[in-house]
Amino acid sequence: MIVLDGVGMTYRADSGPVEALRDITFRVEGGELVAVVGPSGCGKSTLLRIIAGLRPATAGRISVDGRVVSGPIPFVGMVFQAPVLLRWRRIIENVLLAAELAGLKRAEYRARADALLRLVGLADFGEKLPRELSGGMQQRAALCRALLLDPPLLLMDEPFGALDAMTRDELNLELLRVWGEGNRQRKTIVFVTHSIPEAVFLADRVVVMTPRPGRVASVVPVPLPRPRTIATRASADFGALTLQIHDALARTVA
Ligand SMILES: Nc1ncnc2c1ncn2[C@@H]1O[C@H](COP(=O)(O)OP(=O)(O)O)[C@@H](O)[C@H]1O
Ligand SMILES: [Mg+2]
Repeated sequence: MIVLDGVGMTYRADSGPVEALRDITFRVEGGELVAVVGPSGCGKSTLLRIIAGLRPATAGRISVDGRVVSGPIPFVGMVFQAPVLLRWRRIIENVLLAAELAGLKRAEYRARADALLRLVGLADFGEKLPRELSGGMQQRAALCRALLLDPPLLLMDEPFGALDAMTRDELNLELLRVWGEGNRQRKTIVFVTHSIPEAVFLADRVVVMTPRPGRVASVVPVPLPRPRTIATRASADFGALTLQIHDALARTVA
C-alpha cells in the first residue's frame, strides 16, 4: 500500500537547512496498522505529510497504492493532535465538511455522518457546537470526519496525545473497532505517537525512529492476538514488547 524508498527531507529554513528525515525505507501493507514512534522533532509529522503528498520529499520515492506520490493523494483520512474543528459549525456540519471539501453532495453523506457519530457515541451531539464537547469528544468528531468518505488509508498524527490517559485508552479501543479488527476490509493506518504502550496496543508493527535526522532504527513486529482488549495491556507479552521498544529507542540516543 505504502512504499517509502530512501526518503529524505531537508527543510530550507532562514537559519539554514534542517535535515528532518534521512534514508527512510519501509513499506506498509494494505490493511496493516503501523505505529511510528520516535522522540519529539525526529520528523514524524514530516513523514506523514510526505506520505499524504502535502509536501514533496527532497530525496527518495514514495508510492501509495502503486502510484508515485507527487501531490496531495486522494482518498486519505487525516487526524491531527488538535481536533481542528471549525468552532462556528455544529458537529454534524464539521463531519460533513469532508464531503464538501471533496466537492461531493453533502446530503448524500448525511446518513453516513449520523451513523459514524453513533458509532463513536456522539449520536446526541451532532447539533452541538465544538465548544460544548470535551476534548475527547471533539477528537471523536474529527475521527468521524476523517472516516466520512471511507478512505482506505488513515494517517494519524498523535491524535490522542492531548487527551487524558483514560480517554486515550477508550479511543484506542474505538479506533480498533472502527478499523475493523477481525474483518477483512481493513483500512491501512499509519499512526504516529510518542507513547510506546499506545503503539504496542494498536499496531501490527512499530517503526522506531532515531532522533533528527529521523532514520528507521528498527521495526518491531507486534504478534499480540486480536481483538485486543484492556486485558491485553496486562499481559506479559505486552510488557516485554513495551520494554523492547523502549530499549530500541534508548539505543538510538546512546
Ligand atoms: N516547515 C518547516 N520548516 C523548517 N523546519 C521544519 C518545518 N517543519 C518541521 N521542521 C523541523 O523538522 C524537524 C522535524 O519536525 P517534525 O516532523 O514536526 O517532527 P516530530 O513530528 O517528530 O516532532 C524539526 O527539527 C522541526 O523543527
Ligand atoms: Mg509531530
